[in-house]
Formats: sequence, structure tokens, C-alpha cells
Amino acid sequence: MKILITGGSGFVGSNIAIYLKKNLKGAKIYSLDNLSRKGSIINKKRLSSYNIKNFRVNIENFKNVISLPKFNLVIDCCAEPAIEASEKSPDKVFRTNLVGTYNILKKCIKDKSNIIFLSSSRVYSIEKLKKLINKNNLNRPIKIQKVINEKFETFSASSLYGFTKLASEKLIQEIFFKKDLKYIINRFGVIAGPWQFGKQDQGFIPLWVAKHYLKKKLFYIGFGGKGHQIRDVLHIKDVCEILALQIKKFKKINNEIFNIGGGKINAISLLDLTSKCEKLTKNKIIIKKISKTSKFDIPYYVSDNKKIIKFYKWKPSKNIDDILEDIYIWLNKFKNVRNFF
Ligand SMILES: NC(=O)c1ccc[n+]([C@@H]2O[C@H](COP(=O)([O-])OP(=O)(O)OC[C@H]3O[C@@H](n4cnc5c(N)ncnc54)[C@H](O)[C@@H]3O)[C@@H](O)[C@H]2O)c1
Repeated sequence: MKILITGGSGFVGSNIAIYLKKNLKGAKIYSLDNLSRKGSIINKKRLSSYNIKNFRVNIENFKNVISLPKFNLVIDCCAEPAIEASEKSPDKVFRTNLVGTYNILKKCIKDKSNIIFLSSSRVYSIEKLKKLINKNNLNRPIKIQKVINEKFETFSASSLYGFTKLASEKLIQEIFFKKDLKYIINRFGVIAGPWQFGKQDQGFIPLWVAKHYLKKKLFYIGFGGKGHQIRDVLHIKDVCEILALQIKKFKKINNEIFNIGGGKINAISLLDLTSKCEKLTKNKIIIKKISKTSKFDIPYYVSDNKKIIKFYKWKPSKNIDDILEDIYIWLNKFKNVRNFF
């Protein structure tokens, strides 16, 4: 089986590529990535060391995409994944995240190949997500109670990033319905782990560990600058394992949408993340407060994994401490990756 991973030199794509190369017998793995994300050149070198070829192609360029060799399956991990960036450069996000999906789908039609699409929890409506938390309670720690399943509302605004992800999902469903091809759509919450070159607005878990490790400063941004906002976090290794399982069972389980995340037990506030990072690195750093909240930020997101567990008998195997420790070990081992934080 020939598998193309778009965004294959990104954090998620490169880890999946290497995992499948090691664990999926008989699979030939290829990457498509224009290496625009900071750190993607380092990830590309990792791919080369496993003999995985990267096609340096801009996904927005249809001619270049359609002339790639034939594949049996596409795992689409290519995107501008930062919410705030998507608001600052809407044209770019529209072209990469939506036109890019369209180009890949036309390639799938040509090859008669199936797709696994990496979507996001950010397809859900911002206002509905905000309503899960009582506004007045943002001055205190938020209780981790509610979980969000696949039926949660997607009709109202969710950020341009969220829109391009939801529109890509709909595009996949429309085109594949017509062509009798098969898809799986995975709406992931926060994913974290080694080889993630995190920024304040995307990839905050490695950013938190690295800033503590390197004794640099950080910010609690939004919701009064108290650090009470909550996210559930999933280890990249768990992402690789569920994807490998989805490929193995593709003939039986397809044309489904799944929410996948760390779930309740892997949900954490920024404040608690800080204290875990302090313990791990033995460093205490300055964390400044920026009270103002972006219109596109949400105080709380925790995935409901019920459907994915039921379909695949899979659940996350790594907890939040494992995730932080693996990032710490990575930073310790590879000096060159520290410059990115
Ligand atoms: N990391 C997360 O927490 C998370 C959570 C939910 C969903 N996702 C989704 O998973 C996918 C991978 O995310 P990631 O965290 O690995 O992001 P990433 O930025 O590390 O990887 C994306 C890759 O796409 C490449 N790319 C960007 N624009 C391109 C273009 N025009 N042409 C070709 N390549 C281009 C970048 O160089 C980068 O290597 C994305 O679709 C994202 O929306 C990620």
C-alpha cells in the first residue's frame, strides 16, 4: 500500500510517517510538505533518515499535486493550524486549508484513493463552547465535568481555521459520496509530544515545557490572565496508534467522524501545567498576565472519546505526565531543537 501524508514534515505528519514506516508491514510512506512551518526542515531530515521521501510541493498548486505518483491512501495533515494566524492571514489559510484539501481530493479521485482527514475540535461553535462554562467562574479553577461529542453544534462561528476544517469535511463527504470513495474524519483536540515546535497560539504544551527548561518567560493570555482555561491533551504516540488501527480496519470502518482527545483524565489548566513544568524542570519562571481575551479563544474543551473507544476498542495510553516527560527528554537530548523556543 502506498500512503501519502500531506504536511508530512509537520509535527503530526512526521511522527505518523515514521510510526507507519516502522509498524505497518508492506506500507510505502511518502510525504508532501513545502517546509513552510518552522522546524519542518528538521522533521524532513528525520524522514530522510527513515528513507521516507518528501515531495516539496505547495498543496495550493494543483498542477504539482496532480502530477505526483499514484497513492492508495492519503492522510491529510497539511494545514496552517493556528487560530490567531488564520485570522491575520485569511487568504493564506483559505488557500492552504481549503483549496489544498480540494486539490488533494481531485488527486484522490484520479488515483481512486481513500482519505483520512485530520480535522479539529475547533469546528465547534465558539459561543456554544463558551456557554459550557459559567462566565463568573473564570476567576476560579474550572471543574472538569463536561465532554464534547461529535453532535455538538457546528452552525455558528468557529474561527476561520475552524471554518476551513469544517468546509473541508463537507467537501470530502460531497466528493467521496459522488465517487464512491471512502473517508475517515478525525476531530482531534490538543495533540502534543516530541518534535512539536510549539508557539503561543499553537502547540502550547511543548512551549510550556521548553520555556521552563530554558528559563524564559511566558504569558497567561485571556480570561483575565488567570491561567484557568482547560484543554485535554493527547500524546502523539496515541495519535499514531489510533491511525494505524484505522488503516488496518479501513474496509470495515469508514465514512465516519470521530472526536479524539486525551479526555477527562488528560485535561489540564494552564496553572496546573505550570506547576507540573516547575516540578519537572526544577525551574520557576516569570509568567505575565494578559487579561484581554481574543474573540476566537475558548475557556474549555475536553473531548468525548466514547465513539472512538466503541468502534476501535482503543483509548489513550499516555497520561499528561508521560507527555510532559517525553517532551523534556526530547529537549534534553537534542540541543538544536531548543533554538526554536
Ligand atoms: N497539533 C494539534 O494539536 C492539532 C490538533 C487538531 C488538529 N490538528 C491538525 O493536524 C494537522 C497537523 O497539525 P500539526 O500540529 O502537525 O501542524 P504543523 O504546522 O506542524 O504541520 C503542518 C505541515 O504542513 C506544511 N504546510 C503548510 N502549508 C503548506 C502548503 N501550502 N503546502 C504544503 N505544505 C504546507 C507545513 O510546512 C507543516 O510541516 C493539521 O491539519 C491540523 O489542523 C492538529
